[in-house]
Amino acid sequence: MKGKANLSQDSEVNHMMNEKLQEIKNRALEQIKDTDSLEKLSEVRVAFLGKKGELTDVLKSMKNVDPKDRPAVGQLVNETRKAIEDVLDEAKKNLSEKMREIQMKAEVIDVTLPAKKAVYGHPHPNTRALDEIKRIFIGMGYEVIEGPEVEYDYYNFEALNIPANHPAKDEQDTFYINDKIVLRTQTSGEQVHVMEKGKLPIRMISPGRVYRADEVDATHSPCFHQVEGMVVDENITFSDLKGTLAEFAKQLFGPETKVKFRPHHFPFTEPSAEMDVSCFKCGGKGCRMCKGEGWIEILGCGMVHPHVFEMSGIDPEKYTGFAFGIGLERIALLKYEIDDMRLLYENDDRFLKQF
Ligand code: DAH
Repeated sequence: MKGKANLSQDSEVNHMMNEKLQEIKNRALEQIKDTDSLEKLSEVRVAFLGKKGELTDVLKSMKNVDPKDRPAVGQLVNETRKAIEDVLDEAKKNLSEKMREIQMKAEVIDVTLPAKKAVYGHPHPNTRALDEIKRIFIGMGYEVIEGPEVEYDYYNFEALNIPANHPAKDEQDTFYINDKIVLRTQTSGEQVHVMEKGKLPIRMISPGRVYRADEVDATHSPCFHQVEGMVVDENITFSDLKGTLAEFAKQLFGPETKVKFRPHHFPFTEPSAEMDVSCFKCGGKGCRMCKGEGWIEILGCGMVHPHVFEMSGIDPEKYTGFAFGIGLERIALLKYEIDDMRLLYENDDRFLKQF
């Protein structure tokens, strides 16, 4: 009797379990059906199958089930779990596909829409002018080298025949790091560096930044650029200088360009000259560009001074040479018809875009 009563009581529990599991399953399937996102789906999974989920709770209550009925009830729980899992997996698959479709539709590219314009950078006028100068001299067999901007006083002045008390030093007043080191005032020191290396012949240009204690105005800046040039070999004469620089001017400003050499003084060349080009705007008649002169000064030049050769260990009896110094900004301003040097340094996009 006792056993029977117990059994019916157990059956009662089993029955209740069965119903409860059925109810859980129905609720789970209902919720899965209503789910429209993968996140919600995973919430449903946690709520029913997770560690603290409803099915786990049922498993925990197995202790109330008669031990001999436990396998049957356990199987029921597993079946329920499996049923919910299958539907969850199926729903996940369907939802993923649906989401992918939605995403693909959203990402459809309308090839008929106008494209966004890519914004291209522009070479700075200085860069363009320098590229042009390099192209011309490389074409004549020159090599391009670069020297230090922070320079020994010796290279910037002394080795170029500008001793301590020379007035040329005043004109190029500059920024001193200490007694012996300066921010170079000219690229001419590069002549000395190349000569000291002792590899002859020399045919080089050396572009770079130089510094002077100048006030900023339309034609001055405390930092600007020069391109130095030097040729050293046996039998180099002033006519080599003239021929080379005339060819340079023609290539830079056009085949009609004429050149004119005016005597000048530079401490490291003898004789020295400044070279003018006929105005490429008016052809020499006189205009705003050349300030009515018909000529525009573009560089300083001369035959390397024998003393400069001696100081750098080159025999002036055997070798001769010429040198020149071009102001890069001046070329850029002329070539691209810019009337204020400050524009080159302001980095105003509206200006730079024009080149
Ligand atoms: N360094 C000179 C200056 O800054 C320019 C110059 C003149 C360079 C004559 C030279 C040269 O090489 O021969 O004014």
